[in-house]
Amino acid sequence: MRLVSLVLLLTFTLLVFSAGSILPGAAAGEQKVWAREGSSAMLPCYLSPRKQGRIWKQPSDWTSVLWKRHGGSAHQEPHVVLEVEYTGLRKTALPMRPRVSVQDSALRSGNFSLRIDPVRSGDAGLYEAQVAYSTEVQSCQVELGIVTVTLSPPGPVVEGEPLLMSCNSSHRARLMETCWFHNGRPVPTTKDFYSLHGALSILQPSVSDSGSWHCQLRYSDNVVVSATHDLQILGFDGPANPVVYAAAGSAADLPCTLSYLPSAFGINAVAAHWSHLAGGHLQDWIISQNQSSRSFPLHLPAVGPDDAGRYSCAVPVGSKTMRRDVTLAVVTVTPSIPGPISEGSHLLLTCGVTHLQGHERFQWKLLSSAPTNKKGAMFTSHNLKDHRSQTGRTLDISQVSQKDVGIWECSVYGPEGRLGAVEYGLQITGAQVSSPPTIFSGQVTFGLTVTLFFLLMVCILALALQKRARIPASYPALEGIVAVAVPNKKDVEESQKETIQQTEC
Ligand SMILES: *[C@@H]1O[C@H](CO)[C@@H](O)[C@H](O)[C@H]1NC(C)=O
Ligand SMILES: *[C@@H]1O[C@H](CO)[C@@H](O)[C@H](O)[C@H]1NC(C)=O
Ligand SMILES: *[C@@H]1O[C@H](CO)[C@@H](O)[C@H](O)[C@H]1NC(C)=O
Repeated sequence: MRLVSLVLLLTFTLLVFSAGSILPGAAAGEQKVWAREGSSAMLPCYLSPRKQGRIWKQPSDWTSVLWKRHGGSAHQEPHVVLEVEYTGLRKTALPMRPRVSVQDSALRSGNFSLRIDPVRSGDAGLYEAQVAYSTEVQSCQVELGIVTVTLSPPGPVVEGEPLLMSCNSSHRARLMETCWFHNGRPVPTTKDFYSLHGALSILQPSVSDSGSWHCQLRYSDNVVVSATHDLQILGFDGPANPVVYAAAGSAADLPCTLSYLPSAFGINAVAAHWSHLAGGHLQDWIISQNQSSRSFPLHLPAVGPDDAGRYSCAVPVGSKTMRRDVTLAVVTVTPSIPGPISEGSHLLLTCGVTHLQGHERFQWKLLSSAPTNKKGAMFTSHNLKDHRSQTGRTLDISQVSQKDVGIWECSVYGPEGRLGAVEYGLQITGAQVSSPPTIFSGQVTFGLTVTLFFLLMVCILALALQKRARIPASYPALEGIVAVAVPNKKDVEESQKETIQQTEC
């Protein structure tokens, strides 16, 4: 079969070649051109005058071209398709008027090729160009054959919807065999692809079936006709059953992205309908987008274990509806001690995922031992003073101590990498525990110390005055006491400033 195609290809090449050479005053030989229905067709005709003894300086002066069609499928009379008179006047016959043209400079350049765009299946037939140079007439004959690729059902091809592709041509011989190729490879007959009277059936088209499909028709007279169709299948991006992992209390975005822009399929307004069955109640959301978007994500601002489960994204496309399910898995931390945790107690922290698939691994890590840092703050590796990690679903702290206080992170890993993580802020109760209120209590303690100090000073002063009342006065001594008290107060002020600076750091 490959040999046959090669021979045919060579014959065809030779034919094209012979059409390129000019046979003076005679028909340039008939050639066959194949065009795909809906695409453009070029019926070649290259001619130039060769009259002996005469040199045509400006052939266009007396050149005219007339393209005729010799009856299509029916026994029609030959009729004019297009005519360019030597004056440059163009006439086009009504049925094909907007679709046919010859190059503007045709009369000068000798390129009288007829272009039909777009070509229709009814255009198949024999065409003839008659080129007149003053008194000399030459002609080209071209047979136009049409190949049609039909998709059933018509309209956008949607993932999962059975599809039938068929090829036929205007060639009048018995069809012997139809072969199909996808991206250059022969299509094997499986339960998903089967050929039925030359038509190819794809039971469950998926986005991976997009691409170039090629059909090859072989007829009883060994003519081989082929056509290529670029198939675009509208589906969803990403894996078929995505699972989104989100920490309890955090936001989640569930993806729903089409493989192509709907506008590329002639669909304008699009919206996705999300739904979720939670505790016997159907929740739903409508996500609308403009024409330049193919993504319809569902944003959930704060998820809890009750929000976990299957969500369905439905996108209506023409008369069909495309659906994709997305699973939301919520990652949680459950402490063995409910409520406040006191120092020295035995604590178990269990990391949970609402939808365990069995292949998950867990890792516990103490992100930061600084207890005053709020959850959600940024931690860099420099902050990891007490960097500890532990694998396993449950973190076992036999005796909770100060160095366990901080943000613990549980990461969930799957074969494809890190799936998600959740953070847990561990705090312990007890007087020695420094927590945000300690800054405030520290200031109170300091204020009390200062007050007590001043009271003490007042007492000393009072005692000294009493002594002075009894013993004859010595003023320098009093000045000395005052002089001692003043620098003390400055020190206090300075240390107070330092304290404030420290708490601000
Ligand atoms: C001849 O004209 C056709 C359009 O009518 C054009 O497509 C083709 O490229 C031209 N051929 C050459 C060799 O210029
Ligand atoms: C191929 O078949 C389709 C539908 O069966 C038809 O409309 C079309 O005209 C045919 N094409 C040719 C070139 O015969
Ligand atoms: C369409 O939406 C996208 C984002 O969803 C935005 O960037 C773009 O500007 C919008 N275009 C128009 C025409 O509104």
